[in-house]
Parts: sequence; structure tokens; C-alpha cells
Amino acid sequence: MKILSIIGARPQFIKCAPLSRAIRKEHKEILVHTGQHYDINMSEIFLKELKIPEPDYNLGIGSGRHGEQTGKMLLEIEKILLKEKPDMVLVYGDTNSTLAGSLAAAKLQLKLIHVEAGLRSFDRSMPEEINRVLTDHVSNLLFCPTKTAVQNLKKEGICKRVYNVGDIMLDSIVYNQRQAEKKSNILKELGVSPKKYLLATIHRPANTDSRENLISIVNALFDVNETIVFPIHPRTEKYLRQYGLWETLTQKIIAIPPVGYLDMLKLEANALKILTDSGGVQKEAYMLGVPCITIRENTEWIETVEDGWNVLVGANYEQIVNSVKNFCGCTSKKNVFGTGDASEKICKILNSEFDL
Ligand code: UD1
Ligand code: UDP
Repeated sequence: MKILSIIGARPQFIKCAPLSRAIRKEHKEILVHTGQHYDINMSEIFLKELKIPEPDYNLGIGSGRHGEQTGKMLLEIEKILLKEKPDMVLVYGDTNSTLAGSLAAAKLQLKLIHVEAGLRSFDRSMPEEINRVLTDHVSNLLFCPTKTAVQNLKKEGICKRVYNVGDIMLDSIVYNQRQAEKKSNILKELGVSPKKYLLATIHRPANTDSRENLISIVNALFDVNETIVFPIHPRTEKYLRQYGLWETLTQKIIAIPPVGYLDMLKLEANALKILTDSGGVQKEAYMLGVPCITIRENTEWIETVEDGWNVLVGANYEQIVNSVKNFCGCTSKKNVFGTGDASEKICKILNSEFDL
């Protein structure tokens, strides 16, 4: 079988690594990188570290307005699909690269597989929510990471060929965590000790593109009086500079460029607590048993909140400061994301559903 996989943004490299490895044992995979993320530390570092095969196509689309970026991708992906004629097209998650790949495949009536299907924040102001809903509704085979995701799809009338296989990001953790602990020197390099620092990541437009919200978050980080390690996404750097927050931030906390996956795993596993608005980081905090303070009003990873390991605080100064002091997570975990074998399960189902 010829499977054409589409990736383009940081979380998709991490999701694609284990599945690409599994697919290539039995099938031919064509890998398309849209180029949505292009800095070395947002793209190449992951391909190298995770040993993702060199993409067959790199579209080099880069940044732009949503319509512009998605439209350019759609145009280029369609050309490749017409040339390669794959048996199936595979997309991951909820970025503009996901949506462009889904539309291109659906319009050509190709079989579309969505990995990380069924997630909902029920917040249509998030670009990702639009991408998820549209992708799910044109997909032929939907791989969900949780029971909630399956239920979300059911409520929207999507019941056929929906499988709960667990979360593919857990596959990546299982495969890489020991190596991360052994190989990464990031704690030494930054001069921090295990469980003596907080880890922060922020990149959602609701937090970065709003001056008021970003100032509130940054002030809270300053005032919690803890050592904070903050790998800064390029979108966030742009706005921190624009709002005149950059100089003070870099003086008061350990602000670093985005890090590779192994360094990130090491930083996450050894953090006392994690503050984030990232979807992937919320899950990883849960998987690694680190309390997570989520700087959003809602989450598609609701199980992490229900299980007592995640708390939603929005961009609210008082709530961030209070939760850093008081939120300690839970003592037990239900392992809501499966057992780290999502890629194997997906491959088995792909074989049995070839004739769908
Ligand atoms: C995108 C995804 C988001 C995902 C995130 C992962 C969409 C709509 N959003 O958001 O779901 O959580 O990736 O990180 O698809 N930039 C650089 N270098 C890069 C990449 C981006 O400088 O390599 C800067 C550019 O100024 C760009 C901005 O970051 O305009 C935003 O990049 P973009 O890919 O549009 O969205 P993200 O915020 O990264
Ligand atoms: N990540 C990383 N380096 C960083 C920040 C994040 O390797 O500096 C990883 C993180 O461990 C997770 C993924 O990137 O696996 C999450 O991606 P991101 O936060 O960009 O997007 P989201 O998950 O919110 O879509």
C-alpha cells in the first residue's frame, strides 16, 4: 500500500515519528513536509533527533495569514497527490497543514486517515478547532486518542471507522524517554536542578496576540518567585518584543530558544510544575506525572483535568500565581491515553481497512 503522510508543524514531527517507523515496515510511505515550521529548532532538529526519514517533498510554504498559508499548501499538495496517486493520505492533529492535506485529499476522493481525531475544545475562536472539525468530517478512517474523542465524534454523527487507539504522543515518550534522561544535558547547561524549577511554554494566539493577556501571564511568571525555564516559540518572541516585554523577561527568567524533543522531555520530566497553553505539553505533563497549570479557558484534553493533574487558569494573573503555589496534582493516574502502542494498533487497522 502507498501511504502519503503530511506533516508541517512541530507537534506533527513528534506524532509522525513512531507511526512512520511502523508504516515503513510494511508499506511504502511518501512524506510531505509543508514547511509551515521552518526554523532549524522548529523543524530540522526533530527530523534528525527522531530519525524521521528525509521528506520526499518540502513545500517551503512558511508563515502567512490563515487563508494564504492554507491555500498555498492546498495548491501544492493537490499537485503531489495527482502525481503520486497514493492509496491513502494520512494527516495528524489540527494545524493548517492538517486542513490543507485533508481538503486536497477529500476533493480528489482519496481515502483520508486522521490521527488524533475527535478532539474538541468547543471554542471556535481557536484556529485549531476549525481545522479539527473540518478534517474529521471529511476523513474516512479516524484514529482517536481517548474515549472522549470517540464520544465527541458520535455526537456529530461520525460513527463509522472510528477507533480509539490511545495517544500516539505516548508512543514517542515510551520510545525516547530513557534516551532523553541519559543524553540530554539541558539541566546542567541551564544550571537548574530536578524539581527545583517550573517549565513554561506559551504560543496560543489568544495569549500571544493579546497585549493584555501576555502582560498578565508574564507578570504572573515574574511574581511567583520561582526559577522558571521558558523555551520561547517564535510567535511568542515576536509579540514579547512588540509589547516591550522582551528585555525584562530575559533578565528575570531563564528564557531560551525552542529546544529539541529530547531536551524538552528532560525539562518536562524534571520540572516541579509545568505552565503551558500547548496541547501536546498538557498531555506530556500528564504522561510524565507532572502537575500542569494550563493557561487557557478550556482544553480538548479534559481527562487530564478530570483526573486531577491539570488545572485551567486562563491568562488570569491571580489564578496563575495561586495555582503555582497551591496546585500539586493528584496521587494516582488512570492512564487515559492508552499504553503507548497506538502506532502498532493503527497499522493493524490500516491493513484490515485497506478496502474501505
Ligand atoms: C501552529 C499551529 C498550532 C500549533 C503550533 C505548534 C495553525 C493554525 N497553528 O501555530 O495549532 O499548536 O503550530 O507550535 O496551524 N515562526 C517562525 N519560525 C517558524 C515557524 C513560525 O518564526 O519556524 C513564526 C512566524 O512569525 C509565524 C508565527 O511564528 O508567523 C506563527 O507560526 P504559524 O505556523 O502560523 O502558527 P503557530 O503559532 O506556530
Ligand atoms: N516541544 C519541544 N520543544 C519546545 C516546545 C515544545 O520539543 O521548545 C514539544 C513538546 O514536547 C510537544 C510538542 O512540542 O511534544 C508540542 O508542540 P506545540 O506546543 O508546539 O504545539 P501543540 O501541541 O500545542 O499543538
